[in-house]
Amino acid sequence: MVNVMMNGEWVAPEDAKISVFDHGFLFGDSIYEVVRTRHGALFAAGMHLKRLRYSGDQIGLELPWADTLMHDEMEAMAKSVGGEAYVRLVITRGPGPLSINPDGCVNPMRILFGKPLEVPAAHVYKDGIHIHLSRIRKNPLSKVKGNIKTGNYLDHVMAFREALAHNCQEALLLNHRKQVAECTTSNIFWVTRGKLHTPSLRSGILKGVTRQIVFYLAEQQGIVCEEGLFPLEELVQADEVFITSTTRDVLPVSVVGEQRYPVGPITRRLMADFDAIGQVDHLDLKF
Ligand SMILES: Cc1ncc(COP(=O)(O)O)c(C=O)c1O
Repeated sequence: MVNVMMNGEWVAPEDAKISVFDHGFLFGDSIYEVVRTRHGALFAAGMHLKRLRYSGDQIGLELPWADTLMHDEMEAMAKSVGGEAYVRLVITRGPGPLSINPDGCVNPMRILFGKPLEVPAAHVYKDGIHIHLSRIRKNPLSKVKGNIKTGNYLDHVMAFREALAHNCQEALLLNHRKQVAECTTSNIFWVTRGKLHTPSLRSGILKGVTRQIVFYLAEQQGIVCEEGLFPLEELVQADEVFITSTTRDVLPVSVVGEQRYPVGPITRRLMADFDAIGQVDHLDLKF
C-alpha cells in the first residue's frame, strides 16, 4: 500500500492522477527526493531539502513553499505509514502548453508518496551485491556541484535493465571519458591500501546524502578519502568496494563486472558506524 498526498491533500492512491499536460510527464521536467525514517524519525531531512532547493534552482523551478511545510508534510506522510517509512517527494513543473517551453507552467505540483521502507536482507550486507558494468555512459547535467536530482532517469533505467539481465542488483555507469561515475541509484566507493576513493562531483554524479555522511564517518575514524576522476582500472585493483544510498546505507559489493572483492574491514567499520549514527541534521555536514 502506498499513501499519497498531492499539494497538501491526502488522495486515495487510485485517485492520485496528474494532467497529461504536466511537463513532468511530457519532458521529465521534475525533481525529487527520497527520505527514509530511522528509529521512526525522518533521517537527514535537512540535507534532502537543501538538495531539492539546489535541484529547483538549477532547472529554474521555483519552489513556492517553505521548507517547514515540506518537512511537516514528509513527517505526516512517514507517520501515516507507521514503522520505518520510505517517503518520496516529487515536484513537477506542472501542466502547461504542449511545448518544451516551461514558461507557461505556473502551478508546480507537490506530490508525496509514502510506503513501508524496504531494505536489503541481512545476508546481503554480509555477502555483498553483484554490480553489472553498464555499456551506457553517463551524461552529466552538472559537473561542478553534483547532478540535479531530476525525474529524468531513462539512462539509469536502461542500465538497471542490463543489470537485471545479468542477475545483478546494481549497474555501474562510467562517464563519457570512461571514468568511474556512479550506479543507477547509488554512489560507489572503494578501498585501496587502507585509503577510501570515490568519484568526484566532476565525474557527473549525484551528490549523495549518504556519500556526504560517509565522508564524515571516515574522517571520524581517521580514514583518508580521495575524491577524483578515476579510470576503471583503479576500481578493478581495489581491495574492497561498497555503494551508498538513502535506502541501503553502506552496502558491500562482492562483484563488479568480472572482478570479485571480499567484504573487508573498512567497509564493515563504516557499516557499523552508520548503524550507530542516530540523527545527522545537527552535524555540520558540508552539503
Ligand atoms: C543517481 C543516484 N546516485 C546516487 C544516489 C544516492 O544518493 P543518496 O545517498 O542521497 O540517496 C541516488 C539515490 O537515489 C541516485 O539516484
